[in-house]
Amino acid sequence: MSETHIITIDRHIIEHERKHPGARGAFSNILTDVALAAKVISRKVNMAGLMDILGATGGENVQGESVQKLDVFAQEVIYRAMDHTGDLCCMVSEEWDDIIPIPDKFPAGDYVLVFDPLDGSSNIDVNVSIGTVFAILRKVSNEERGSLMDCLQPGRKQLAAGYVVYGSSTMLVYTTGNGVHGFTLDPSIGEFILSHPDIRIPDPPSRIYSVNEAYEPKWSPGVQKFIDHLKRGDGDSGSGGFSSRYIGSLVSDFHRTLLRGGIFMYPGDRSNPEGKLRLLYEASPLAMLAEQAGGRATDGRRDILDIEPESLHQRTPLLIGSADLVTQAQEFLAEGAGEG
Ligand code: AHG
Ligand code: MN
Ligand code: MN
Repeated sequence: MSETHIITIDRHIIEHERKHPGARGAFSNILTDVALAAKVISRKVNMAGLMDILGATGGENVQGESVQKLDVFAQEVIYRAMDHTGDLCCMVSEEWDDIIPIPDKFPAGDYVLVFDPLDGSSNIDVNVSIGTVFAILRKVSNEERGSLMDCLQPGRKQLAAGYVVYGSSTMLVYTTGNGVHGFTLDPSIGEFILSHPDIRIPDPPSRIYSVNEAYEPKWSPGVQKFIDHLKRGDGDSGSGGFSSRYIGSLVSDFHRTLLRGGIFMYPGDRSNPEGKLRLLYEASPLAMLAEQAGGRATDGRRDILDIEPESLHQRTPLLIGSADLVTQAQEFLAEGAGEG
């Protein structure tokens, strides 16, 4: 019988904390609390069709997007799992206009949690996989209860990053800077079990590109030429040998890219030069995971992790996945920059 260790995420977090000599329990507690919130959200997502939780609330979030009930539920679950622990000084969420303060009645801590409580929410009602994205930053200001300065840190300052994908199974994938590790939820025992240790983006990668081609007419010449190159290749073969896969749920498209390789792109275009995805709680966390797994992430010019955020909900173009493909895309964008 093959020797398989049963390692829960809690055990894994503790063992990884030992690799950070200066780490105190708070950092590990936050990761454990995120896993707890993920279990609660997973349960609700898997019953969404039965609990009349489908459909929009009728409200809109700061992005001007209709808010789905599960977005609100996920936001509440994450907030209530960590507002009282004394580990965080504040939080940032896609679903909240400003910094989310820790209530005065609770102690404040040394870390910031930034998160997209439910990503891909437009897919909720059609039973397509959705997710949660998060990252942890260390407080850098002298403000006991955090400040904008603590939240607007470049991705390189992230201590940890991860996502949960609520799909055919619920998986939590995270990194603390020592590799990328995936855990699959066993709902019968309520534990995330290590199922994908040390994830590396395959090299050579699967020849998959992932982009919403409906926006092709509005892309820059560089993006148009790159995608065309993937389709037609160099020679007369007439094919670049790529397949296209686009789920329209960032966490799912990224999860596939992480496990299979390829490139995911949400570029800017004439209508939205900065693209659609948010830097702080979508692009930066996934960029840390991509780099830790041997890949790359860029906005077309700079590494995502080097971008200094200027506002909580700022958007950024995102090209992420296998290093060679991301570099090749960046070269096409640079060449095309002078045109059109
Ligand atoms: P969210 O549901 O958190 O607002 O994110 C939705 C994002 C992301 O999940 C996905 O990659 C993208 O929207 C799809 O956008 P398009 O429909 O424009 O392709
Ligand atoms: Mn999102
Ligand atoms: Mn969202």
